[in-house]
Amino acid sequence: MSTGTSAKQAAGVAAAALVESGMRLGLGTGSTVTFFLEALAERVRADGLEVIGVPTSEDTADRAVALGIPITTLEELPELDLVIDGADEVDGAFRLIKGGGGALLREKIVAGCGARIVIIVGEGKRVERLGTTFLLPVEIVSFGAKATQAKVEALGCHPYLRTLESGEAFVTDNGNWVLDCKFESGIQDPEGLHQQLSETPGVVEVGIFLGLCHHVIEGRSDGTATHHDQPGGD
Ligand code: A5P
Repeated sequence: MSTGTSAKQAAGVAAAALVESGMRLGLGTGSTVTFFLEALAERVRADGLEVIGVPTSEDTADRAVALGIPITTLEELPELDLVIDGADEVDGAFRLIKGGGGALLREKIVAGCGARIVIIVGEGKRVERLGTTFLLPVEIVSFGAKATQAKVEALGCHPYLRTLESGEAFVTDNGNWVLDCKFESGIQDPEGLHQQLSETPGVVEVGIFLGLCHHVIEGRSDGTATHHDQPGGD
């Protein structure tokens, strides 16, 4: 097991310990969430925990079903007690970059329905400034993609169309494409950039998550996990 893997597992296991019977859960996407799902399934089996989850991707839905975690849709369950999700970067104000796995749109919709949002990360994901260690994912519609890409570039970054090994465009669960945007000096004004990108025609969702994190669990390679509350919140 690599160092990063055991840190992610520590965060996932710590998050599963927060779940109580009867909870309606938002189930995020990614490798850290996979560890959470495995630990949650174990609690369902061993402790008889009764939960139901709304998955943020087809991948998470498949994993949850395979692990025996009951799932439903946001249409059936539009209010969630607890959302557990990963992140690519977390800054000191608990602003996030998400979307490395391409699930940013559904992740943001589900997070918006959660009473409490817990973000689980391995060490190395807490940053001084967003956009310094990870490219910012932006989901766009394929129609007019080149024009949208030019408008995004004009906001001060280098946007690269996410592709598969075959060279074809990566397609999200929603049938859209993703631009991964490189900011040479990081993102100086996450709120302002979020607004500008959101107002750009062709942009469906932005991987900057603002006000959508109450608590961070940071796993470490020694198997321990640290809990961090939202600055000025909780
Ligand atoms: C999925 O689109 C992402 O937002 C993930 O939550 C994020 O990329 C974290 O992924 P890992 O847990 O695999 O690092």
